[in-house]
Amino acid sequence: MTTPTIPRCPVRPAVPLAVWPVAQTSAQYQRAGRYLPACSQHPAKMFPELARRIVTEYSTPGQVVVDPLAGIGTTLVEAALLDRRSIGIEVEPRWTAIARANLDHVLDDDHRDLAEIRVGDARTLGNVLGNLAGKVDLIVTSPPYGCDVGNMDKTRWGTGGGLCPTRERNYSPDRANLGHARGAAYLAAMAEVYRACFEVLRPGGLLVTVTKNARRSGRLVDLAGTTVTLAREAGFSYVQHVVALHAAVRDSYARRSAVVLADDPGPPRPRPGRPRSSRCPRGRLHPR
Ligand SMILES: C[S@@+](CC[C@H](N)C(=O)[O-])C[C@H]1O[C@@H](n2cnc3c(N)ncnc32)[C@H](O)[C@@H]1O
Repeated sequence: MTTPTIPRCPVRPAVPLAVWPVAQTSAQYQRAGRYLPACSQHPAKMFPELARRIVTEYSTPGQVVVDPLAGIGTTLVEAALLDRRSIGIEVEPRWTAIARANLDHVLDDDHRDLAEIRVGDARTLGNVLGNLAGKVDLIVTSPPYGCDVGNMDKTRWGTGGGLCPTRERNYSPDRANLGHARGAAYLAAMAEVYRACFEVLRPGGLLVTVTKNARRSGRLVDLAGTTVTLAREAGFSYVQHVVALHAAVRDSYARRSAVVLADDPGPPRPRPGRPRSSRCPRGRLHPR
Protein backbone atom coordinates (compact mmCIF):
# COMPACT_ATOMS: atom_id res chain seq x y z
CA MET A 1 0.00 0.00 0.00
CA THR A 2 1.36 3.41 -0.90
CA THR A 3 1.26 6.33 1.53
CA PRO A 4 -0.82 9.19 0.18
CA THR A 5 1.15 12.33 -0.50
CA ILE A 6 -0.02 15.25 1.61
CA PRO A 7 0.17 18.47 -0.36
CA ARG A 8 2.35 20.97 1.44
CA CYS A 9 1.56 24.64 1.77
CA PRO A 10 4.47 26.96 1.18
CA VAL A 11 5.49 27.96 4.70
CA ARG A 12 7.63 30.97 5.42
CA PRO A 13 10.42 30.45 7.95
CA ALA A 14 9.03 31.27 11.39
CA VAL A 15 9.93 34.60 12.97
CA PRO A 16 11.27 34.02 16.50
CA LEU A 17 8.69 34.86 19.13
CA ALA A 18 9.38 36.19 22.62
CA VAL A 19 7.12 37.17 25.51
CA TRP A 20 8.27 39.94 27.85
CA PRO A 21 6.56 40.69 31.17
CA VAL A 22 7.13 44.46 31.38
CA ALA A 23 4.27 45.34 33.71
CA GLN A 24 4.96 43.39 36.86
CA THR A 25 4.70 46.84 38.42
CA SER A 26 2.27 49.46 37.11
CA ALA A 27 3.24 52.17 34.63
CA GLN A 28 2.67 54.77 37.38
CA TYR A 29 5.03 52.91 39.72
CA GLN A 30 7.67 52.63 36.98
CA ARG A 31 7.56 56.41 36.48
CA ALA A 32 7.18 57.43 40.11
CA GLY A 33 9.97 59.69 41.40
CA ARG A 34 11.66 59.72 37.98
CA TYR A 35 9.27 61.22 35.43
CA LEU A 36 7.66 64.63 35.95
CA PRO A 37 3.94 64.61 36.79
CA ALA A 38 3.31 66.59 33.57
CA CYS A 39 4.17 63.43 31.61
CA SER A 40 0.86 61.94 32.69
CA GLN A 41 -0.92 64.37 30.33
CA HIS A 42 0.21 62.33 27.34
CA PRO A 43 -2.35 59.64 26.52
CA ALA A 44 -0.16 56.99 24.95
CA LYS A 45 3.16 56.57 26.69
CA MET A 46 5.35 53.50 26.48
CA PHE A 47 6.01 51.52 29.65
CA PRO A 48 9.51 52.61 30.79
CA GLU A 49 10.41 48.98 31.38
CA LEU A 50 9.43 48.10 27.83
CA ALA A 51 11.59 50.89 26.39
CA ARG A 52 14.46 49.80 28.65
CA ARG A 53 14.15 46.17 27.59
CA ILE A 54 14.07 47.02 23.87
CA VAL A 55 17.12 49.26 24.15
CA THR A 56 19.02 46.67 26.20
CA GLU A 57 18.22 43.79 23.85
CA TYR A 58 18.86 45.52 20.54
CA SER A 59 21.70 47.99 21.12
CA THR A 60 24.93 48.41 23.03
CA PRO A 61 26.33 51.36 25.05
CA GLY A 62 27.60 54.16 22.84
CA GLN A 63 25.20 53.41 20.00
CA VAL A 64 22.67 55.86 18.55
CA VAL A 65 18.99 55.29 19.38
CA VAL A 66 16.23 57.36 17.73
CA ASP A 67 12.51 57.68 18.44
CA PRO A 68 10.83 59.55 15.55
CA LEU A 69 7.43 59.73 17.34
CA ALA A 70 8.87 60.55 20.72
CA GLY A 71 5.91 61.86 22.76
CA ILE A 72 7.18 62.82 26.21
CA GLY A 73 10.42 60.96 25.55
CA THR A 74 10.26 57.63 27.38
CA THR A 75 12.66 56.05 24.88
CA LEU A 76 15.11 58.92 25.29
CA VAL A 77 15.22 58.75 29.09
CA GLU A 78 15.67 54.99 29.20
CA ALA A 79 18.23 54.90 26.36
CA ALA A 80 20.34 57.69 27.88
CA LEU A 81 20.30 55.98 31.29
CA LEU A 82 21.67 52.92 29.47
CA ASP A 83 24.50 55.06 28.04
CA ARG A 84 23.17 55.28 24.49
CA ARG A 85 23.02 58.54 22.56
CA SER A 86 19.30 59.18 22.12
CA ILE A 87 17.48 61.57 19.82
CA GLY A 88 13.72 62.06 19.76
CA ILE A 89 11.57 63.75 17.12
CA GLU A 90 8.09 64.94 18.05
CA VAL A 91 5.78 67.10 15.97
CA GLU A 92 3.97 68.77 18.89
CA PRO A 93 5.80 71.57 20.74
CA ARG A 94 3.65 70.77 23.79
CA TRP A 95 5.02 67.22 24.15
CA THR A 96 8.51 68.29 23.12
CA ALA A 97 8.60 70.85 25.95
CA ILE A 98 7.52 68.24 28.51
CA ALA A 99 10.06 65.75 27.14
CA ARG A 100 12.85 68.31 27.41
CA ALA A 101 11.87 69.31 30.96
CA ASN A 102 11.73 65.65 31.87
CA LEU A 103 15.20 64.94 30.46
CA ASP A 104 16.50 67.86 32.57
CA HIS A 105 14.70 66.44 35.59
CA VAL A 106 15.67 62.76 35.34
CA LEU A 107 19.19 62.75 33.95
CA ASP A 108 22.40 63.79 35.66
CA ASP A 109 24.79 66.01 33.65
CA ASP A 110 26.68 63.13 31.99
CA HIS A 111 23.52 61.38 30.84
CA ARG A 112 21.78 64.65 29.93
CA ASP A 113 24.47 65.26 27.32
CA LEU A 114 23.46 61.99 25.64
CA ALA A 115 19.81 62.87 25.05
CA GLU A 116 17.98 65.44 22.95
CA ILE A 117 14.50 66.09 21.62
CA ARG A 118 13.77 68.03 18.43
CA VAL A 119 10.51 69.36 17.03
CA GLY A 120 9.97 67.81 13.61
CA ASP A 121 8.00 65.51 11.37
CA ALA A 122 8.85 61.81 11.42
CA ARG A 123 8.19 61.66 7.68
CA THR A 124 11.21 63.89 7.08
CA LEU A 125 13.40 62.17 9.65
CA GLY A 126 16.55 62.38 7.50
CA ASN A 127 16.35 66.18 7.36
CA VAL A 128 15.69 66.48 11.08
CA LEU A 129 18.63 64.22 11.97
CA GLY A 130 21.09 65.97 9.64
CA ASN A 131 24.53 64.37 9.75
CA LEU A 132 23.29 61.47 11.90
CA ALA A 133 21.24 60.17 8.97
CA GLY A 134 22.63 56.79 7.90
CA LYS A 135 24.37 56.33 11.27
CA VAL A 136 21.45 55.33 13.49
CA ASP A 137 21.83 51.92 15.15
CA LEU A 138 18.33 51.45 16.55
CA ILE A 139 14.93 53.06 16.11
CA VAL A 140 12.44 52.44 18.93
CA THR A 141 9.00 53.89 18.38
CA SER A 142 5.32 53.62 19.04
CA PRO A 143 3.15 55.19 16.34
CA PRO A 144 -0.39 56.47 16.60
CA TYR A 145 -2.68 53.47 16.06
CA GLY A 146 -5.22 54.90 13.63
CA CYS A 147 -7.90 55.03 16.34
CA ASP A 148 -9.01 57.70 18.80
CA VAL A 149 -7.03 58.35 21.94
CA GLY A 150 -7.99 60.88 24.57
CA ASN A 151 -5.43 63.19 26.10
CA MET A 152 -5.93 62.84 29.81
CA ASP A 153 -6.76 65.80 32.02
CA LYS A 154 -6.56 64.20 35.46
CA THR A 155 -7.04 67.49 37.33
CA ARG A 156 -10.33 68.06 35.55
CA TRP A 157 -11.26 64.42 36.08
CA GLY A 158 -10.53 64.69 39.79
CA THR A 159 -13.02 67.54 40.07
CA GLY A 160 -15.77 65.63 38.29
CA GLY A 161 -15.09 66.65 34.67
CA GLY A 162 -14.39 64.39 31.72
CA LEU A 163 -11.03 62.61 31.56
CA CYS A 164 -10.49 63.24 27.84
CA PRO A 165 -11.68 66.68 26.70
CA THR A 166 -12.90 66.61 23.10
CA ARG A 167 -10.60 69.41 21.93
CA GLU A 168 -7.60 67.44 23.19
CA ARG A 169 -8.17 64.16 21.36
CA ASN A 170 -5.46 62.44 19.36
CA TYR A 171 -2.46 64.25 20.88
CA SER A 172 -3.38 67.69 19.54
CA PRO A 173 -6.18 69.69 17.90
CA ASP A 174 -3.85 69.99 14.87
CA ARG A 175 -5.35 67.72 12.21
CA ALA A 176 -1.88 67.36 10.67
CA ASN A 177 -0.87 65.22 13.66
CA LEU A 178 -0.80 61.59 12.49
CA GLY A 179 -2.98 60.76 15.50
CA HIS A 180 -5.90 62.02 13.38
CA ALA A 181 -5.07 59.93 10.29
CA ARG A 182 -7.42 57.08 9.48
CA GLY A 183 -7.76 54.42 6.77
CA ALA A 184 -5.78 54.99 3.59
CA ALA A 185 -4.39 58.30 4.89
CA TYR A 186 -3.01 56.50 7.96
CA LEU A 187 -1.41 53.78 5.84
CA ALA A 188 0.17 56.30 3.48
CA ALA A 189 1.54 58.37 6.37
CA MET A 190 2.96 55.36 8.20
CA ALA A 191 4.50 54.06 4.96
CA GLU A 192 6.32 57.41 4.71
CA VAL A 193 7.48 57.15 8.32
CA TYR A 194 8.90 53.63 7.83
CA ARG A 195 10.62 54.65 4.59
CA ALA A 196 12.21 57.57 6.44
CA CYS A 197 13.30 55.19 9.23
CA PHE A 198 14.88 52.82 6.71
CA GLU A 199 16.86 55.66 5.17
CA VAL A 200 18.38 56.91 8.42
CA LEU A 201 19.43 53.52 9.82
CA ARG A 202 22.94 52.28 9.20
CA PRO A 203 23.20 49.01 7.23
CA GLY A 204 22.11 46.28 9.67
CA GLY A 205 20.33 48.77 11.94
CA LEU A 206 17.09 47.76 13.63
CA LEU A 207 13.58 49.18 13.87
CA VAL A 208 11.42 48.13 16.82
CA THR A 209 7.87 49.37 16.53
CA VAL A 210 5.32 48.93 19.31
CA THR A 211 1.72 48.41 18.23
CA LYS A 212 -1.39 46.74 19.48
CA ASN A 213 -4.31 45.06 17.82
CA ALA A 214 -7.68 46.42 18.85
CA ARG A 215 -11.29 45.46 18.27
CA ARG A 216 -13.54 47.88 16.45
CA SER A 217 -17.22 47.03 16.13
CA GLY A 218 -16.40 43.52 17.25
CA ARG A 219 -13.74 42.97 14.57
CA LEU A 220 -10.04 42.58 15.16
CA VAL A 221 -7.93 45.28 13.52
CA ASP A 222 -4.61 43.63 12.69
CA LEU A 223 -2.36 46.65 13.10
CA ALA A 224 0.56 44.35 13.86
CA GLY A 225 0.21 42.64 10.48
CA THR A 226 -0.29 45.97 8.72
CA THR A 227 2.86 47.31 10.37
CA VAL A 228 4.89 44.33 9.18
CA THR A 229 3.59 44.83 5.64
CA LEU A 230 4.37 48.55 5.60
CA ALA A 231 7.83 48.04 7.07
CA ARG A 232 8.63 45.28 4.57
CA GLU A 233 7.54 47.52 1.70
CA ALA A 234 9.93 50.15 3.05
CA GLY A 235 12.80 47.64 2.78
CA PHE A 236 12.90 46.03 6.25
CA SER A 237 13.15 42.31 7.02
CA TYR A 238 10.91 40.95 9.77
CA VAL A 239 13.28 39.43 12.33
CA GLN A 240 11.41 39.07 15.59
CA HIS A 241 7.96 39.30 17.12
CA VAL A 242 7.73 40.20 20.78
CA VAL A 243 4.56 40.13 22.81
CA ALA A 244 4.81 42.50 25.78
CA LEU A 245 2.50 41.81 28.67
CA HIS A 246 0.89 45.05 29.77
CA ALA A 247 -0.44 43.54 32.98
CA ALA A 248 1.29 41.72 35.77
CA VAL A 249 1.43 37.96 35.53
CA ARG A 250 -0.01 36.80 38.85
CA ASP A 251 -1.51 33.41 39.46
CA SER A 252 -2.90 32.40 36.08
CA TYR A 253 -4.13 35.75 34.83
CA ALA A 254 -2.55 38.35 32.60
CA ARG A 255 -4.04 41.00 30.40
CA ARG A 256 -2.31 40.91 27.06
CA SER A 257 -0.83 43.57 24.86
CA ALA A 258 2.23 43.88 22.70
CA VAL A 259 5.59 45.09 21.36
CA VAL A 260 6.77 44.95 17.82
CA LEU A 261 3.47 43.26 17.09
CA ALA A 262 0.55 42.97 19.41
CA ASP A 263 -2.56 41.50 20.76
CA ASP A 264 -5.84 42.66 22.24
CA PRO A 265 -5.42 44.24 25.69
CA GLY A 266 -9.11 43.85 26.47
CA PRO A 267 -11.44 46.62 27.64
CA PRO A 268 -10.24 49.16 30.22
CA ARG A 269 -11.27 48.30 33.76
CA PRO A 270 -13.28 51.00 35.56
CA ARG A 271 -11.84 52.49 38.72
CA PRO A 272 -13.65 51.46 41.87
CA GLY A 273 -16.18 54.07 42.90
CA ARG A 274 -16.25 55.93 39.58
CA PRO A 275 -18.76 55.35 36.82
CA ARG A 276 -17.08 53.82 33.80
CA SER A 277 -18.33 56.57 31.53
CA SER A 278 -16.10 59.07 33.35
CA ARG A 279 -12.95 57.44 31.99
CA CYS A 280 -13.60 58.83 28.55
CA PRO A 281 -16.42 60.69 26.89
CA ARG A 282 -16.92 57.85 24.43
CA GLY A 283 -16.35 54.14 24.80
CA ARG A 284 -14.19 53.90 21.72
CA LEU A 285 -11.43 56.14 23.03
CA HIS A 286 -8.43 54.22 24.23
CA PRO A 287 -6.01 55.94 26.59
CA ARG A 288 -3.14 53.45 26.45
C1 LIG B 1 2.08 56.76 20.69
S1 LIG B 1 2.71 58.36 20.93
C2 LIG B 1 4.40 58.02 21.39
C3 LIG B 1 4.60 58.09 22.88
C4 LIG B 1 6.03 57.85 23.33
N1 LIG B 1 6.46 56.52 23.00
C5 LIG B 1 6.17 58.11 24.83
O1 LIG B 1 6.38 57.16 25.60
O2 LIG B 1 5.96 59.25 25.23
C6 LIG B 1 2.86 58.96 19.28
C7 LIG B 1 3.38 60.38 19.19
O3 LIG B 1 3.59 60.70 17.82
C8 LIG B 1 3.43 62.10 17.68
N2 LIG B 1 3.29 62.41 16.25
C9 LIG B 1 2.18 62.36 15.49
N3 LIG B 1 2.46 62.69 14.22
C10 LIG B 1 3.79 62.94 14.16
C11 LIG B 1 4.70 63.29 13.11
N4 LIG B 1 4.28 63.46 11.84
N5 LIG B 1 6.01 63.43 13.41
C12 LIG B 1 6.46 63.28 14.69
N6 LIG B 1 5.64 62.98 15.73
C13 LIG B 1 4.33 62.77 15.47
C14 LIG B 1 2.20 62.38 18.52
O4 LIG B 1 2.09 63.77 18.83
C15 LIG B 1 2.46 61.46 19.73
O5 LIG B 1 3.10 62.16 20.76
